[in-house]
Amino acid sequence: MPPSVKKIESSILSRPIGVFDSGLGGLTVFSEIEKALPGENLIYFGDTARVPYGAKSPKIVERYTMEIVNFLEACGVKMIVIACNTSTAIAYKKVKRHIKIPVIGVIEPACDIASRLSATRRIGVIGTKITVQSGAYPERLKAIDPKIKAFQKDCPLFVPLVEEGMTGGEIVNLVAEKYLGEFDDKGIDTLILGCTHYPLISGVISEVSGPGVTIINSAEQTACAVKDTLEKLGMLNRSKKDGKRRFYLTDASVNFIRIGEKFLRQKMKNIKVVKVWDILLQ
Ligand code: DGL
Repeated sequence: MPPSVKKIESSILSRPIGVFDSGLGGLTVFSEIEKALPGENLIYFGDTARVPYGAKSPKIVERYTMEIVNFLEACGVKMIVIACNTSTAIAYKKVKRHIKIPVIGVIEPACDIASRLSATRRIGVIGTKITVQSGAYPERLKAIDPKIKAFQKDCPLFVPLVEEGMTGGEIVNLVAEKYLGEFDDKGIDTLILGCTHYPLISGVISEVSGPGVTIINSAEQTACAVKDTLEKLGMLNRSKKDGKRRFYLTDASVNFIRIGEKFLRQKMKNIKVVKVWDILLQ
């Protein structure tokens, strides 16, 4: 292989992976990718000016998603990870059609593992209003195994609680009891956390659900899917050095940095604020 081709190839490998969410929930996916692929360069985009997505209309979520995807593409990423269930539910197919680089969403990896672990084939799914209304989870679970029965519940208060840093305590407990009570008579043995914010309160969710229910955190499975896909495509960065991290936010959110640093257990350097009007679709 001529040296110039080698150089181009290695520069493709060192291009960053772009991970995005409406706010800080996608950091649960970001942190699993960091653990699985420490040598990869990573960009995180948090749409902190427009969070939450979950109660907005599908049209607007699709638009926000495409704006972020265009922005990340312009940053030269080699792969896009939609670390947001709401965006995945609404716009995954459109994003896949729109760009040439590989795209990973969070719904397929979560459904794959849930279907492998559920013995009763009765699976609960919790998510934002739009994720639940989209029917993306039941559709995917049925496609894997028509015998699966999916029960859904939207949990709109969980995202603002997490964004406020309230990941435990009496209020979160009460809200969880109210929402998860929906599954009391459904006989589920598996519960998918269909929102990337929810792993931050998985302790409470797991306690309220009880020991008979396996909690599925899609972040870990998504990181596996990222690794497998890059490996298959020969696009893994096998560098022994820790990759670089860059964070883009649409609003300088003190909560994002405070909670993000606590969760990632590291200082968040390289944070830049991107003006929403600079990424608007024409
Ligand atoms: N973390 C997101 C998800 O996985 C979105 C939450 C929101 O913005 O409402 O759905």
